[in-house]
Amino acid sequence: MIWIRRILAGGAALMVVAVLLAFTLSEWRVRRTVAMPLPAIEAAHDPAQIAEGARVATFEGCRACHGDRGQGRVIQNDAMIGRIVAPALARVAARATDAELARVIRHGVSVSGKPIYIMPSDVFNRLADEDVARILGWIRTLRPASGDVTVSTRLGPLLRFALATGGLNSAVNPAGDQPRARPGDVGGYYVGTLCSFCHALDHDRIHQGEFGPATAPALAQVAAAHDPAAFRHLLQTGEGAGGRALPDMKDAAIKVFKGFTVDEIDAIHAYLREEAARLQPS
Ligand code: HEC
Ligand code: HEC
Repeated sequence: MIWIRRILAGGAALMVVAVLLAFTLSEWRVRRTVAMPLPAIEAAHDPAQIAEGARVATFEGCRACHGDRGQGRVIQNDAMIGRIVAPALARVAARATDAELARVIRHGVSVSGKPIYIMPSDVFNRLADEDVARILGWIRTLRPASGDVTVSTRLGPLLRFALATGGLNSAVNPAGDQPRARPGDVGGYYVGTLCSFCHALDHDRIHQGEFGPATAPALAQVAAAHDPAAFRHLLQTGEGAGGRALPDMKDAAIKVFKGFTVDEIDAIHAYLREEAARLQPS
């Protein structure tokens, strides 16, 4: 019997080592400092540009995650995953320069130089300079308020494990060939800076959302299967054909896509139909 106990004790010791390793590795991953140049972008000051910034912050999802007034939001709170917090924007902005905030959005490096993990900065990397400047203009109008979320992120065991094993990658993205101005043809631009957070054009992808894992379908084909009216209805209500429930798209329609004009929705659809034709095997 003694040797069985020894094996059990050995197993327990191994477990402890594995847990410590996961803890240490995940701590290192979130605390390491990333060297990243600051983008030369200043907040817009013109009231029309600031109003446009509030709209961009809607359809790029900033206000869905950080709260409509940027007051912060606890995105998830779960014993195994942990507490994921999108912080109150006015409070972060009070201790940051415009360039530091632009670096958070575009390159996934926090004000204090640490990697960003949950926020999709790898996708926001493609935002034009002027759209980042407009978003910053909107953030600079926000003021700390009593309803602000002040708790911070706490990593649960599942997140630590994912961090330690590379199951959760940082959003750090050093790429730097962004347009200065928003392109006139916005279809591809919005697909690249928003839809691609969850969808790939040509294959299904698992999206780990607030409602659990869901399959975000291959975007070009599935969009081309809609006529323009059905596509508008989908983006405006999040309802599929025949009233089919689409939980992630419904949430996005209510909080995010409401920032789009009808012309912009049509431009997204036109772009996706062209991509579907291009991807068609000939
Ligand atoms: C999917 C949810 C989500 C979206 C969309 C999102 N954020 Fe975040 N944001 C977060 C979370 C969570 C954090 C905490 C850091 C992390 O992700 O690791 C964060 C952190 C930040 C920070 C603070 C970084 C620091 O130094 O502490 C700023 C500023 C910020 N976001 C601005 C924005 C802006 C502007 C947008 C839109 C362009 C945006 N966020 C979109 C979830 C989101
Ligand atoms: C937050 C993640 C997320 C974002 C952002 C997102 N989608 Fe989706 N989408 C999904 C998921 C997940 C599904 C599968 C159904 C569901 O769970 O809602 C889906 C389904 C769809 C469908 C299929 C609907 C049907 O009838 O079956 C279309 C079309 C679509 N998305 C278009 C878009 C477009 C266009 C954008 C950008 C403007 C976009 N999505 C942005 C997650 C997302």
